[in-house]
Amino acid sequence: MIIKLSSGKEMPIEMHKARMVQKIWLPPVEQRLRAIEEAGYNTFLLKTKDIFLDMLTDSGVNAMSDNQFAAMMRVDDAYAGSMTFYEFADAVKDVLGYKYVMNVHQGRAAEHLISKVFARSGDVVPTNYHFTTTKVHIEQTGGAICLEIYTDEALKTESTYPFKGNMDPQKLKDTIKKSGKEKIPFVRMEATTNLLGGQPFSMKNLKEIKQICSEYGIPLVLDGSLICENAYLIKQREKGYEDKTVGEIVKEMCSIADIFYMSGRKNTSVRGGCIATNNKELFEKIQPWLPVYEGFFTYGGMSQREIAAMTVGMREMVDPDVAGCAIEQIKYFVNRLVETKIPVVTPAGGLACHLDAKQFLPHIPQSQYPAGALTAALYITSGIRSMERGTISMERDKEGREVFADLELTRIALPRRVYTVSHIEYAIDRINWLYKHRTLIKGLRFVYEPPVLRFFLGKLEAIDNWGRNLTGALKKEIGNH
Ligand code: F0G
Repeated sequence: MIIKLSSGKEMPIEMHKARMVQKIWLPPVEQRLRAIEEAGYNTFLLKTKDIFLDMLTDSGVNAMSDNQFAAMMRVDDAYAGSMTFYEFADAVKDVLGYKYVMNVHQGRAAEHLISKVFARSGDVVPTNYHFTTTKVHIEQTGGAICLEIYTDEALKTESTYPFKGNMDPQKLKDTIKKSGKEKIPFVRMEATTNLLGGQPFSMKNLKEIKQICSEYGIPLVLDGSLICENAYLIKQREKGYEDKTVGEIVKEMCSIADIFYMSGRKNTSVRGGCIATNNKELFEKIQPWLPVYEGFFTYGGMSQREIAAMTVGMREMVDPDVAGCAIEQIKYFVNRLVETKIPVVTPAGGLACHLDAKQFLPHIPQSQYPAGALTAALYITSGIRSMERGTISMERDKEGREVFADLELTRIALPRRVYTVSHIEYAIDRINWLYKHRTLIKGLRFVYEPPVLRFFLGKLEAIDNWGRNLTGALKKEIGNH
């Protein structure tokens, strides 16, 4: 929630209290340098003993509520026919409005099944923007091409445009005409586009896209991993939705899609996911494959305990204090950085505060991975683990050539109900220090590059050992921490 202070200023305030905590520590800067060198300048390969604030992701690391923990204590552990699953199905019906649902072990498992069942070699899957695992599933499992159809505003990092996650309707029509509708197995809309910096689409846009899909008889797939953030931003930004609840907006979004899937690791704060629909025919195409890859349909690769927690999480996620807790912290974080002219993605979206590494480090060419360098530099400077979302997160093309990302972002994620405003203040301070010392940062080069999703396991080194120079400057000016 946003609270108005007596000075007239506004600040985000946590609408929960911590009744169980986990200790964290701030390792000295020399330890951080050693750790990032050992991790090959890849923050995925750090160990948490070397991390102060873990802002890598909001996935699977949110704080669960007391009611979620309580629900995990009493479950029906049956392999088949578990009542815990049927309670989950009731929550899906109530919150999302879908009659048919299956669990999967996480979001990418849903992408795997949907791509396997619907996409074929030579097909084209239009999307407002790709997500890393989605693209690999569409292109490797389904053999199709994942085609991004975004608006001209989408790639402008500094912007006031409220819906940078919109799909361009005209470009979609042109694509369908060019490829032929039979070559388009589905159109995919991602609620708050992850790789564009958590940017939402509008309800108006979703309806326009659905209208086009209906004209050509193409199913519309909604990736709702961050649906509540998108709904919360529609409420704040779209005319006509000011007085609707987040729950009503979520339901309306779901009523437009033919197939819905989500990672439960974000909005519902558990380790799991689901696919849901009201279309029996589409459901029956996917369901037989569930036991092959995930498990019987009343558990789908999840433990019953996690399903029970997901049921509660599903009902809680539309509470505006839950849907908005990360959004309001991100807005505060981003706006404070804008005040000191730090290049960040604006307007603030869901998921994270995103630094624009192309502008932060204009002296580093994309071939030397500016977002990767900035992500490592932020860790050395602050002990904060963020994530590279730029060229390192792209796949090479079929000829093995580098594909440069549209955006080079360092993503500082805000897990829900985990960090407080004082943690954000610390991050703001260190980012400002880093910006003043940005010329100390140089590029990276790969020393080990895996063949797929290289950002997970790839190892790099710092050109000219710049990590040491940055460490030296920090020790001199701030001290050992
Ligand atoms: N779709 C979106 C929009 C996502 O953000 C993610 C995951 C997935 C699908 C895949 O879900 O992880 O449960 O398999 N995003 C995480 C992140 C990994 O850090 O942004 P998953």
